[in-house]
Amino acid sequence: NKVVLAYSGGLDTSVIVPWLRENYGCEVVCFTADVGQGVQELEGLEQKAKASGACQLVVKDLQEEFVKDFIYPCLRAGAIYERKYLLGTSMARPVIAKAMVDVAKEVGADAVAHGCTGKGNDQVRFELTFFALNPELTVVVPWREWEITGREDAIEYAKKHNVPVPVTKKSIYSRDRNLWHLSHEGDILEDPANEPKEDMYMMSVDPKEAPNEPEYVKIGIVEGLPVSVNGKELSPASLLTLLNEIGGKHGIGRVDMVENRLVGMKSRGVYETPGGTILFTAAQELESLTLDRETIQTKDFLALKYAELVYAGRWFDPLRDSIDAFMKEVTKTTTGSVTLKLYKGSVTVTGRESPNSLYRQDISSFESGSIYNQADAAGFIRLYGLPMRVRAMLEKGL
Ligand code: ARG
Ligand code: SIN
Repeated sequence: NKVVLAYSGGLDTSVIVPWLRENYGCEVVCFTADVGQGVQELEGLEQKAKASGACQLVVKDLQEEFVKDFIYPCLRAGAIYERKYLLGTSMARPVIAKAMVDVAKEVGADAVAHGCTGKGNDQVRFELTFFALNPELTVVVPWREWEITGREDAIEYAKKHNVPVPVTKKSIYSRDRNLWHLSHEGDILEDPANEPKEDMYMMSVDPKEAPNEPEYVKIGIVEGLPVSVNGKELSPASLLTLLNEIGGKHGIGRVDMVENRLVGMKSRGVYETPGGTILFTAAQELESLTLDRETIQTKDFLALKYAELVYAGRWFDPLRDSIDAFMKEVTKTTTGSVTLKLYKGSVTVTGRESPNSLYRQDISSFESGSIYNQADAAGFIRLYGLPMRVRAMLEKGL
């Protein structure tokens, strides 16, 4: 039997390879997904995996799929978890786990394994995806079984099994990076009162070091999805890559929050989402032209549920699909462009345009028009305010 392991080349996953062979007597196929975590993480990975005892390393570039099929739907939905989190890690887990299910089929494996701890959200996201896409796979989770508790233990285990200890210096933070975001957790961040150190950030400059001149950027949107930057059409992954560069340069998209994990505990995290923050601002702004009040309210209400499902690892839940179908339908006319001004950490909207705009200057203008008759307002207000009048009459004994 064979197991497909979600592999990063770090210490933990390097130790998992011999551990799986020793405890399950199986061949280990390592799998690494390229979701835009950066080249330095992918270099020399095959030799590393083999040196740890893997029979094979499979690498798949999932960047376009990740942005197009996972990030863009969340963007269109306006999915934000607990008021602040743009779900960077939450969206990446199902695309990785889905690819693992495919790889298991390709190499004839009957089991899958991951290196998430038993305390976090990520284990849930991986395993719910495995369940949904192939309920027959056996799921092995070393962190919930083994005796290794810390870094020293892991190094010792590696040495005993002749596995080279990865030379990359372990950062003091627990980080997760992909094309959408970079998350930081642990170390001094564990006290929610501590301000993050400036040298922690990797995708964005300190806003006070950002250029002294604002930069304008125009986002083109078709049916709720971004298609162009400053008039240039780009594929999903290249569009996001470009906006990360522009946004990062201006210190855009830093979020510091305390969130509720699915497993019940609170955790403090800091996120960098430069391009994503620009895209969220643009997509929401365009809706102010294309959607009416009640539609926006209903969309926002469903977006909360959507975000919760994505955070909780329920990407492949039919409920998410159904809400997604609503989001797709409701944004059918959200086409146009939004111009934003980036300046020292802030994104300000300066203009929006749409061929489907519900805004009509001939109605809204302070200059008089013919469609809106001010005299109509009198009757409207009398009926709209009737319940308030009745209550006041009761209170005054009229
Ligand atoms: N708290 C965030 C989430 O649950 C980020 C998790 C980061 N994961 C990690 N393995 N460092 O989505
Ligand atoms: C982990 O514990 O594996 C990372 C944090 C998380 O999953 O929330």
